[in-house]
Amino acid sequence: MTNSIPNMSVIKSTQRIMPTALGISNAGALLRSGGLVAFPTETVYGLGADATNGTAVAGIFAAKGRPSFNPLIIHVNSLEKALSLAEFNVDALKLAEAFWPGPLTLVVPKKAGSRISDLALAGLDSIAIRVPSEPVARRIIEASERPIAAPSANRSGKVSPTTTGHVLDDLDGLIDAIIIGETAKVGLESTIIACLDVRPTMLRPGGLSRERIEKVLGHSLSEPLKFQGAKSLPIAPGMLLSHYAPRASVRLEAHDAAPSEAVLLFGPSKIFGLSEALISTNLSEKSDLAEAAANLFMALRKLDASGAGSIAVAPVPNWGLGEAINDRLRRAAAPRL
Ligand code: TXA
Ligand code: MG
Repeated sequence: MTNSIPNMSVIKSTQRIMPTALGISNAGALLRSGGLVAFPTETVYGLGADATNGTAVAGIFAAKGRPSFNPLIIHVNSLEKALSLAEFNVDALKLAEAFWPGPLTLVVPKKAGSRISDLALAGLDSIAIRVPSEPVARRIIEASERPIAAPSANRSGKVSPTTTGHVLDDLDGLIDAIIIGETAKVGLESTIIACLDVRPTMLRPGGLSRERIEKVLGHSLSEPLKFQGAKSLPIAPGMLLSHYAPRASVRLEAHDAAPSEAVLLFGPSKIFGLSEALISTNLSEKSDLAEAAANLFMALRKLDASGAGSIAVAPVPNWGLGEAINDRLRRAAAPRL
């Protein structure tokens, strides 16, 4: 029954692989032979393919139903490996040394002669690189002996997955395998910083806060310009306004709730009508933004599954990881494409 799957994806029987030595070695072999393997990272689950194999990379776009060829993040295990693929200026080196392995992606000029497929980079001269810290992710990359292209392991436009169950909800039957792992600890995608010009630019707020990055740099980040010359792509091309979308509509900065609504709380939020709401969940009762980040996508899925037509979201402070949480909430609330 291939006709029920859009984008001509082939139906596959998705293997569930445990992260044992044998499982990891099998997953590495699958990746080397062009397979699509979902695996846990500390941010969200990724859908991996050999970044040097254009056909394998094309499979990622088909399985995700990604509307356009939006460049992918290339995952490697060390700064040394990253230096073989790209040029790092002083700021890029400072950030890599301070925060890798971890939830930071650097967009840097690619080195001529790198074997990364043009499709993975969407034809750009720059490359987005990340060194993940999650041990299972690191073992998979090691076993594959390849740089691994990996977007979040969800169907395009859907909420990013933080558990194996979320990945299977979206991609079971569309990918070759999934590595069974734990809930993602950070829970938000990596922060993306472009180090292409004089001053580093934040392209996407994420699991590493602006404050920590600016402290290491010793100066503030510049904001992405919306319009620049045709040669440079100033914003991450994948940062469409409507993204991370649950089925229900999302209402931000809520101070009240209707009886039919689901409610997303933060800390001791005061929501008028809360006791009559259909369902509610708190991102962090103790107002801890790291805990709230880790719970965000899971909470949105849970409230969405209640069948409520609308999710009312209490205000979340905008400092630290709150910047990325509010970014994802705004996207979830944006008019759907
Ligand atoms: O935490 C993460 O970053 C996760 C895990 C799996 O590593 N990955 C992830 O990938 O969130 P994805 O594909 O969902 O988002 C990657 C973003 C997209 O918005 C894409 O446009 C941007 O990175 N990007 C990739 N290469 C770029 C480049 N050369 N210049 C600017 N933006 C780039
Ligand atoms: Mg994504």
